[in-house]
Amino acid sequence: MKTIKFVIILSLLFNFVSAREKKPVYLDETKPIEERVEDALSRMTLNEKIAIIHAQSKFSSPGVARLGIPELWMSDGPHGIRPEVLWDEWEQAGWTNDSCIAFPALTCLASTWNEDLSLLYGQSIGEEARYREKDVLLGPGINIYRSPLNGRNFEYMGEDPYLASQIVVPYIKGVQQNGVAACVKHYALNNQETDRHTINVNVDDRALYEIYLPAFKAAVQKGGAWAIMGSYNRYQNQQGCHNERLLLEILRNEWGFDGAVVSDWGGVHNTMEAIKNGLDLEFGTWTDGLTMGATNSYDNYHFASSYLELIKKGEVGTEELDQKVRNVLRLNFRTAMNRIKPWGSMGSPEHAAAARKIAEEGIVLLKNEKNTLPIDLNKTEKIAVIGENAIKMMTVGGGSSSLKALYEISPLDGIKKRIGDLAQVVYARGYVGDASGSYNGVVTGQDLSDDRSPEELTKEALEVAEDADVVIFVGGLNKSQHQDSEGADRLSLDLPYNQDELIRKLADTNKSMVVVNISGNAVAMPWVNDVQAIVQGWFLGSETGNALASVLVGDANPSGKLPFTFPVKLEDNSAHSIGEFPGKDGQVHYKESIFVGYRWQEKENIEPLFSFGHGLSYTTFKYGKVTTDKKEMTMEGKITFSVDVTNSGMREGAEVVQLYIRDVKSSLTRPMKELKAFEKATLHPGETKSVTFTIDKSALSFFDADKHEWVAEPGNFEAIIGASSAEVKSKTTFILK
Ligand code: BGC
Repeated sequence: MKTIKFVIILSLLFNFVSAREKKPVYLDETKPIEERVEDALSRMTLNEKIAIIHAQSKFSSPGVARLGIPELWMSDGPHGIRPEVLWDEWEQAGWTNDSCIAFPALTCLASTWNEDLSLLYGQSIGEEARYREKDVLLGPGINIYRSPLNGRNFEYMGEDPYLASQIVVPYIKGVQQNGVAACVKHYALNNQETDRHTINVNVDDRALYEIYLPAFKAAVQKGGAWAIMGSYNRYQNQQGCHNERLLLEILRNEWGFDGAVVSDWGGVHNTMEAIKNGLDLEFGTWTDGLTMGATNSYDNYHFASSYLELIKKGEVGTEELDQKVRNVLRLNFRTAMNRIKPWGSMGSPEHAAAARKIAEEGIVLLKNEKNTLPIDLNKTEKIAVIGENAIKMMTVGGGSSSLKALYEISPLDGIKKRIGDLAQVVYARGYVGDASGSYNGVVTGQDLSDDRSPEELTKEALEVAEDADVVIFVGGLNKSQHQDSEGADRLSLDLPYNQDELIRKLADTNKSMVVVNISGNAVAMPWVNDVQAIVQGWFLGSETGNALASVLVGDANPSGKLPFTFPVKLEDNSAHSIGEFPGKDGQVHYKESIFVGYRWQEKENIEPLFSFGHGLSYTTFKYGKVTTDKKEMTMEGKITFSVDVTNSGMREGAEVVQLYIRDVKSSLTRPMKELKAFEKATLHPGETKSVTFTIDKSALSFFDADKHEWVAEPGNFEAIIGASSAEVKSKTTFILK
């Protein structure tokens, strides 16, 4: 009897072990992902399927616990890894292990015009995301810079579709190398914050395809993005998060996107549309994306009980559901269930160095008369630093991109550290802007309260400035509401807090005046001729002060170029002259069509304050004459342009050589010229490099909305080499046969 029992137990054990040993297909890493997805799908119940397509907390969605399929965890994005919030509240979870390196804002990354640095950015932030066990990074943002009033421009990559396309691709690849998905946002036409949940964008197809979509297309087709975030706004009277044209027709059918479409937080408004029109994952419903929350509302999501009910009533089948589940599972296999992904790392010296390098290369020297910069420390005894932004921490605030940084070096601290005892550094506040410093419970810990009157503050600043060898005014915008911040737009192009007046007074007092503008947007500079040097400083993250100081004293030679136009006044921007911003009665019309940024200013012959692509160096560059390998190009062929660029100055530097194409005669109105290639060349003093660009007909094409295709028309073209869109160095003509 005993022996029989023993044999039965043994055989049960054997069956159990062999059953466990036989890996189900979905867990078998040697099998192709699609097979694993189908296998997992076939094992799931209806309720399990519904569960994985909507959130279970502010930033996570459930897996399938029964099958060992893990949850998906998301994080903002796009400048660092957001600190942990509570399960169902926006307030801090109070973790002490979630402080990150804050990388420079994406406007700064775009200003580097350096794809290698974009890869480094993606790799570094991807490593931080991975270390924090995030599966999806909510970024990068690539909405086109249409108006300088858009509160979120600092999270995006500027006004030009080609530049944004080139910069976004390496970022995505870098992030995804870590087994973390980049969730590219906000698809599409999210170009303002005013009425962001309801505004309906009216845009013609040509502008849609030529201006607003190319960076998203590149993100999908060249970057291979695993996720994309639907936008809050409406288009063709349908929400971006369940928009038939954008999600089904274009993203899935035209571009072949195989990733998951994630809603923006609170961007889903209609269950049936969301089911039918290509949304895969619902997040943040019953919130305004920022503050409100309704405890345990997750079961009430559109993609929860509402969806189930429609299925049970027979009003929808399960075909769309299965497709959504496939997309979510695929995302899961690529990220959470990827066993060979690296471990990541956080707060490392390498990440700090990456942040600093990107900041240094993105800073743009806008103006530099009388070689005011770099500051010559041999001839400088006293440096006056003035302005609130010299001391204000900027990584906290601005909306969902707000961070809890491991550290943040202010401009003043960076300057002081770099100068040491080589000169005296004296600070005066000059004005009080916004003394607060908190976001969703993260506090800067700075006490910036100051009871002095504006007159007292000005007086002190002028006294400090008077006998200084150089005055560095660090001002601009901040992350407060109606500045560079999510949820609202700016109210004007002007600098806030009476800074214009203060700058003028300082410039009257001391001729050696440098303005460092901290912003993610263009600002008006009515004092542009009164100051000697202007530096565009962006929001630079943890390494702000170090990067700024190294540019100011010349340890780093600036090589950033503007990713958008600085207009003299608001009306010079097309959205504010012939277009509409921010629209009315729920509608905004992009009447300017494709004429956005420099495309508009050049067409109308409007002199910009600083042009797209502009940026100076501490050295000088001489351009040769552009040559071409042929005079005639066929529709199937390619053409190559070469230009010699020489560093004609005294120190090493990098120049962004830009190729613009002009269609001399066309059946449709076209911009005077459009950026079609660029290269950043680093040159030693005296060194010459031949920069070559090869293009095909895609660089010559426009989008013909009637035919719904890209068309290159035979005829004459110009290849224009510029140091900016306005500073043309050399041109040549060629013919497309
Ligand atoms: C923003 C997104 C962000 C999300 C989650 C939304 O309000 O528009 O960019 O990723 O919140 O924080």
